[in-house]
Amino acid sequence: MDRALAEEIKRLTSLGLHRRCVEGDIEKVAALTLEIDRLKRERNAVVCAHVYQTPDIILGIGDLVGDSYKLADDCRRTSADVIVFCGVHFMAETAKILNPSKKVYVPSKRAGCSLSEAITAADVRKLKAEHPGLPVVTYINTSAEVKAESDCIVTSANAERILRRMYEKHDRVIFIPDRFMGANLAKALGKTPGKDIVLWHGTCVVHERFKPELVDVYRKRYPGLVALAHAECPAELIKAVDFMGGTGDMMRYVESTDASAYLLVTECGFGELAKLRFPEKNFIAMCRLCPYMKSITLESVAALLRDPASAEEVTVPPAVAAKAKVAIDRMFELAA
Ligand code: 13P
Ligand code: SF4
Repeated sequence: MDRALAEEIKRLTSLGLHRRCVEGDIEKVAALTLEIDRLKRERNAVVCAHVYQTPDIILGIGDLVGDSYKLADDCRRTSADVIVFCGVHFMAETAKILNPSKKVYVPSKRAGCSLSEAITAADVRKLKAEHPGLPVVTYINTSAEVKAESDCIVTSANAERILRRMYEKHDRVIFIPDRFMGANLAKALGKTPGKDIVLWHGTCVVHERFKPELVDVYRKRYPGLVALAHAECPAELIKAVDFMGGTGDMMRYVESTDASAYLLVTECGFGELAKLRFPEKNFIAMCRLCPYMKSITLESVAALLRDPASAEEVTVPPAVAAKAKVAIDRMFELAA
């Protein structure tokens, strides 16, 4: 076997990636990660990987890894010419808005998001006309056009803090598009949906369907279990768990605590990564796959980097990007 390939297999094995491979597969994975690494250097490309991606992408080729906030923040500082975004389209659009001179790609044409698709810029304009003077606080899981109509963007990592700041100056706010996250945040802040916060009807297809009764089933089976859920889950589910947050908050919670078991109520990639990062801890994944996130593979990243010219670049019209950037920069300012 080629020496570089043998070394790469060793590296991937040391990261624990062999455990998710059937016999012989680790060699194919290593051949791809080696090729992607070479192409990244040739094209001065950086790979951003959201934590819902598969571990072969995150650990095998990811340069910038994290939640939506960390990825947006980190990619502001990259010196790469090309950003390959292993995440969903709205994340790549945000990267493009923050890096207009760089080429940004998503290695899948199917990497949408049900939340992002739930609202249009025309819907936001209508909401603003119905509620004049209210600030529009918008979850990052939205299109660039929707961001351009917004006053401030938030992610799961900073939504509570930013909304709290907004309520210092306003009695009511518009929060779009996730109605579950909006209701969860309202509860955390002692606000009433409809009265203090105007919500939209968007939901995440992954998080909307978790059943709270199952949390109790797991609690009985694993005494001492701590249950964590993403803030996109419905309120009844959040009521049944011990901790609500974004993926970054959930990972930090796991890292800094020592429970006998962790129930992870979110997309399955999170649990896969947590198991590899903390092999000594016991994880139970009450998880669902995000079809959009999972449409990206090592093969699709390699195909893109072999021939970027044939791929569709992520583009945002400059006038839209300029307005959206004001709302994104407001987030960075208020989240700091
Ligand atoms: P995070 O920013 O918490 O990673 O969330 C992104 C997302 O799409 C969750 O479904
Ligand atoms: Fe969108 Fe839900 Fe997938 Fe996150 S998990 S990208 S919110 S569909």
